[in-house]
Amino acid sequence: MASCCSIRPVACLKPHEMLSRLRPTWLLFILLCFTAANLYYKFKWNTPNLYWLWPQSVCSCQKCLAEGAHEFKSLIDASPKPFLSIPSPTTEDDFNWWKKLQIEQRSFAFLNETINNLFTIFPHVPQIEQPSPDRCRTCAVVGNSGNLRGSHYGPLIDHHNMVIRLNRGPTKGYESDVGSKTTHRVMYPESASSLDNSTHLVFFPFKINDLLWLLRSFAPRENGQENPKRIGNKNLVMIVNPAFLKYVHEIWLKKKGRYPSTGFMTLVLSLQLCDEVSVFGFGADRDGNWNHYFEILRNKKLRTGPHPGMQEYEVIRELHQRQIIRFFQGL
Ligand code: C5P
Repeated sequence: MASCCSIRPVACLKPHEMLSRLRPTWLLFILLCFTAANLYYKFKWNTPNLYWLWPQSVCSCQKCLAEGAHEFKSLIDASPKPFLSIPSPTTEDDFNWWKKLQIEQRSFAFLNETINNLFTIFPHVPQIEQPSPDRCRTCAVVGNSGNLRGSHYGPLIDHHNMVIRLNRGPTKGYESDVGSKTTHRVMYPESASSLDNSTHLVFFPFKINDLLWLLRSFAPRENGQENPKRIGNKNLVMIVNPAFLKYVHEIWLKKKGRYPSTGFMTLVLSLQLCDEVSVFGFGADRDGNWNHYFEILRNKKLRTGPHPGMQEYEVIRELHQRQIIRFFQGL
């Protein structure tokens, strides 16, 4: 029986045979049409290029954190909304876990009322740079470890788009080791300091009183004048969702320790905000002390308190080994 392929019309040719029959001018023409269609889609509809023909990356870095199949992906994808917003993403279950961190007697309804009051001052959704195929959001997360002293990481840290610093970690006088740029500063009431007008305040609440403190620090005075206690730009405040603390404790640290360190939670947070993450200033110094780069060590047996420091350190090292982050271990 004669099949259609015995006559060999173009449709019956194998792909490589078809290609070999096409003249170079035709090939060039097809390529030009394809490129034009790509550009048309991209600029007219602001959509990714013809994704199904030419898969495009979610960011413009060499490697984007959100891509690739690695064993940490399911952990990263399990994150709740990292920041509070209106409507609140905190559930009663999250609240019940959170209130055990500190003795908290007030109700879930009181938490929600406090959150609503906060959002009469702050933007309902925090300012976050969204992922885009046109940009590469590089982040440096700078912990406060003494292993930064003498490291000369300063220029490298400042080279990142976002530089996220923790608590009171200073830059003045330590520029060569820790850099001078700060785009985000993480804090809670006990570690608070005043910020300039362009720095994002990433607020970690450990109890309702912390949220009330934030409210007091920004609420305008009764006469409508600005609050003199104001510690930063109210439009740049980002309040971490209590559910995020629970998520890091349960999913990342398998419930080890009482609760994670602020630095470790910030690192996990950066996996949600950045396309590339570099980590500095975590872990003990070379003598095994968990000290600060800006302090003279007095207690030679300084350890990590209620936080599972070693567990956190191992996770950071593994993330580095699997090339999900870059971890700079200092001196
Ligand atoms: O001490 P402080 O909490 O201000 O430090 C910020 C963060 O830096 C900690 O939460 C911890 O994650 C990290 N850190 C560390 N090793 C140290 C000191 C701090 O990993 N020696």
